[in-house]
Amino acid sequence: MAILVVGGAGYIGSHAARALRRSGYEVILYDNLSTGHRRLAQGFELVDGDMADEPKLRSVLTRVDAVMHFAAHAYVGESVENPRKYFRNNVEAALTLLNATLDAGIRRFVFSSTCAVYGVPTQIPITEENPRQPVNPYGTSKLFCEYALEAYDRAYGLRSARLRYFNAAGADESGEIGELHDPETHLIPLALAATGPGELQIFGTDYPTPDGTCIRDYIHVSDLAEAHVRALQHLEKGGDSVALNLGTGGGHSVLEVIHAAEAATGRAVRRKVGPRRPGDPPVLVADARRAQQVLGWKATRTLADIVSGAWQWMQRVQSGS
Ligand code: UFG
Repeated sequence: MAILVVGGAGYIGSHAARALRRSGYEVILYDNLSTGHRRLAQGFELVDGDMADEPKLRSVLTRVDAVMHFAAHAYVGESVENPRKYFRNNVEAALTLLNATLDAGIRRFVFSSTCAVYGVPTQIPITEENPRQPVNPYGTSKLFCEYALEAYDRAYGLRSARLRYFNAAGADESGEIGELHDPETHLIPLALAATGPGELQIFGTDYPTPDGTCIRDYIHVSDLAEAHVRALQHLEKGGDSVALNLGTGGGHSVLEVIHAAEAATGRAVRRKVGPRRPGDPPVLVADARRAQQVLGWKATRTLADIVSGAWQWMQRVQSGS
């Protein structure tokens, strides 16, 4: 069984590629390396191609049985400033991929969605039934793909798993791959960097949470990757299309993450308190029960595992090894 991992040289795609290989799948990566890295694709066949390049996609799709799609721009703030970029790639080019997949006769598709499709949740923890009302173009672009997949299922029998990630973080236990964003905007790598020369700005301490800082559901990228394999197996067994939250079901505040970074590194995180970041809801925590029911999957790694793995990876990158 061969799988095309589109965006396979990116952070989550590269972890999914390894999880697939560990489960016995043949894997081909497809990535235009605009934000992906050859380093993360090492040891895999990598087709250097854009999602908008239909002929190239068509030729590689003849060699696979299913598609996993990770290739998206994913900065919320940038999507507000430059929605055109987000709709061109995350919607227009994604549709090219979807149509080429369909034309190739492939009927199994695993899609990287996001909790950003919910916008401001109506209740915590967030179930899959929460209304989907994204509050930024990034979330809107992902929701479009969810709608397209739902329509393609009804019309053409293209079965899909739409996996709504909460806050992905951490690094593969092998130490070979991890998070490499440029610019880096995510809390965990920034908190770790602030144990050195950097300084972390805490975006608000006046939220209605126990310590006043925002709470998020941090999920280890390897747990996420394993959920993708389970989702593919669900579709292979003839399972129906599904939309699933991928989170731990528990939340941690910004201050708790800082303390975890201090415990993992043995150093202080230099920080200052800044204003709230526009668009940040106070609490985002998944109700992760459906993924457990449908896939028999549950996140097993803790915040300490996430932070220590991210720290090992960061040291490796900094040392140039
Ligand atoms: N934070 C800080 N300081 C920083 C960076 C982040 O205090 O320098 C805080 C944020 O305010 C937030 C938390 O740390 O409360 C986590 O922020 P991240 O930027 O790491 O992650 P987000 O929750 O903003 O983003 C994640 C995904 C997005 C997705 C979004 C949905 O990375 O892809 O959740 O809300 F769209």
